[in-house]
Amino acid sequence: MPIVNMKHMLQHAYDNRYAVGAFDLVSLDFLEGIMKAAEHCQSPVILSLAESHFDHFDFDLMMPAVEAAAKRAQVPVAIHLDHGASLSSAIHAINQGCNGVMVDASHAPLPDNIRLTREIVEMAHGCGVAVEGELGYVPGVEGEDAERHPGAISYTSVEDAKHYVTETGIDFLAVSIGTVHGRMRGEPRLDLDRLEQINKALGIPLVIHGGTGLSDEQFGHLIANGVCKINYYTALADAAGARITDNAMQGQAGYTALTDGTSDAIAREVERCMRLWGSAGAADAVLAASEPWLPVEHLIIYNVQGLDEDETRAMMAEGRRVLGSIPGVREVITGKAVKDDADYRYAWVMHFCHEAVIDSFRNHPDHVAFADNLFRPVAAGRISIDYQSLK
Ligand code: 13P
Repeated sequence: MPIVNMKHMLQHAYDNRYAVGAFDLVSLDFLEGIMKAAEHCQSPVILSLAESHFDHFDFDLMMPAVEAAAKRAQVPVAIHLDHGASLSSAIHAINQGCNGVMVDASHAPLPDNIRLTREIVEMAHGCGVAVEGELGYVPGVEGEDAERHPGAISYTSVEDAKHYVTETGIDFLAVSIGTVHGRMRGEPRLDLDRLEQINKALGIPLVIHGGTGLSDEQFGHLIANGVCKINYYTALADAAGARITDNAMQGQAGYTALTDGTSDAIAREVERCMRLWGSAGAADAVLAASEPWLPVEHLIIYNVQGLDEDETRAMMAEGRRVLGSIPGVREVITGKAVKDDADYRYAWVMHFCHEAVIDSFRNHPDHVAFADNLFRPVAAGRISIDYQSLK
């Protein structure tokens, strides 16, 4: 199961001077194409899901497929929320299976960006999840012409970056040094001196948004100066679009005929990037250097005193509601023994995304209130264990 800790994955890239692609996916064709390329050139990969694309696909339906693709892969994979809109988006993404999150507060004044990002970091680190913050503003919209969204670039300053990283505790910093999201005419002009100074001052993995449209040489300069995650989408969407146009020109009609070959077109562009950015061939080394991303099962078996069956079920229903929205809790299952003479009649099974959740869950105020007021007073006899599956 090569889902790996994203912090370890990017630290390996940072230490060895290459960049891992964070490819935004919007359909199964993208997912298949990205994974095909990663397997073919033995590259670590970040499967990235941008909240701005959630109008185009159902995130909760897509995530089981993303996880299945990652779990069956031979190469190391991380699953990342890109440009999340809020703390609740980040919690939802983690509870659906993301092990890296970015909440983009870069448009806000620095103190507000720091406050929101710090909140995200506290929550996400309590789940073992790595956090990307962004400072400065990268204009444009993924998948669209940059000219249609001509917001002014706000460059990341070295001093602000130092302050921001210290105050928030983020794991990776997305910097604004001249790139633009989406399709551009000509190459963007990059402020590489600024990037070099930021890298020297921070010494943490840096991220570039707006990877489409940069030249091979520009990628080389970025990677030489600490960039080890490159966000990339528009060129993949264009490769898929070109294939569909081609199919239509050849007289094809109907969905499967029109989309035929799109995942291969995406795979070709992804593989080109992986070779260019130096991640091709790094899969085994990253697997060796990274903790596997392993869930924890939190199991309690118990008996109830002082509640009748309806009241017991009501207590369980409240538990499912309250505990299921605590960060890092992926599922809450309540059960009753099949046989009436079982030593323990009831069970909770909770899936935690990572072992860090054992502590953050125990101390979470919603858990404390539920356990102290509704559960422990009626469940004196109980056994609990937190375990990881052995394979
Ligand atoms: P491009 O669409 O310009 O490649 O940018 C992607 C991106 O930065 C996603 O966050």
